[in-house]
Amino acid sequence: MNKHTCTDDPNPTQSVTPEQTAIERELVESVLASFANTPDPRLREVMESLVRHMHSFIREVRLTEGEWNTAIEFLTACGHITDDKRQEFILLSDVLGASMQTIAVNNQAYRGATEATVFGPFFVDHAPRIPLGGDIAGGAAGEPCWLEGTVTDTDGNPVPGARIEVWEADESGRYDVQYPDGRVAGRAHLFTDDAGAYRFWALTPTPYPIPHDGPVGKLLAAVNRSPMRASHLHFMVSADGLRTLVTHIFVAGDPQLAIGDCVFGVKDSLITDFERQAASSPTPDDRDLGARSWSRARFDIVLAPASVGR
Ligand code: BEZ
Ligand code: FE
Repeated sequence: MNKHTCTDDPNPTQSVTPEQTAIERELVESVLASFANTPDPRLREVMESLVRHMHSFIREVRLTEGEWNTAIEFLTACGHITDDKRQEFILLSDVLGASMQTIAVNNQAYRGATEATVFGPFFVDHAPRIPLGGDIAGGAAGEPCWLEGTVTDTDGNPVPGARIEVWEADESGRYDVQYPDGRVAGRAHLFTDDAGAYRFWALTPTPYPIPHDGPVGKLLAAVNRSPMRASHLHFMVSADGLRTLVTHIFVAGDPQLAIGDCVFGVKDSLITDFERQAASSPTPDDRDLGARSWSRARFDIVLAPASVGR
């Protein structure tokens, strides 16, 4: 039998006989048909699309049985290392850009609303509340950084009482939850004042690697990719009637921005000037920082209406 390249196949790299193509297509159709009685139409839509794309992928790369085994072993290792503190599947989603694509689909641009970015695995519920002007460091090491800004809606109205959660790594690139001693540091929440303004002390963000001692780290090494993230500080901002925003600010001039962020989280609109302040220069709230240098940044946050999503 003559072999030919089947033009219906997605980007085929090998010749496949018409008989073989028919066998492969028949299998796809059988699997699709198995979802015909799914009561939930959305579940049916998602599963059918998943099957189409997965079979298309297997056929396009002509997946070997050895490669299939490697994939199963990889996913098994992701499961084994995952617990209530370590989520390897989210890391996998992050480094494949799947997290950012999901965020893009669900946070459509709307009239100047601040852009969203990846949530990451280090948010913790019940972080301490700080007053306006308070310090999120809680003993975490790093250069002090004064952050201030406003929260408004897309018509420019201030949003009083917006809840702002902030969290970040210390100067050695570790979040509090990555230490074994149960410390709570480098995270807090606060609320905007009557004019929708906020201000607090944090730490000047520094670049750090995502956890790369597991299967996702091995994958990055195998494809010659760095596990580094660009320096950033996380925000989650919520208020009644407005779309909750999960985002970061990135540090303008951070060399890692040019090298790349391993989870594709950087958006130009989130790159923020952090102005360096010499030791002994006066602070906005007269805090005495002794001989330490510090930095300051402004981040004005615009929330879309809650009704704006997909
Ligand atoms: C983070 O920024 O905290 C993060 C995001 C994605 C993966 C790992 C860490
Ligand atoms: Fe982070």
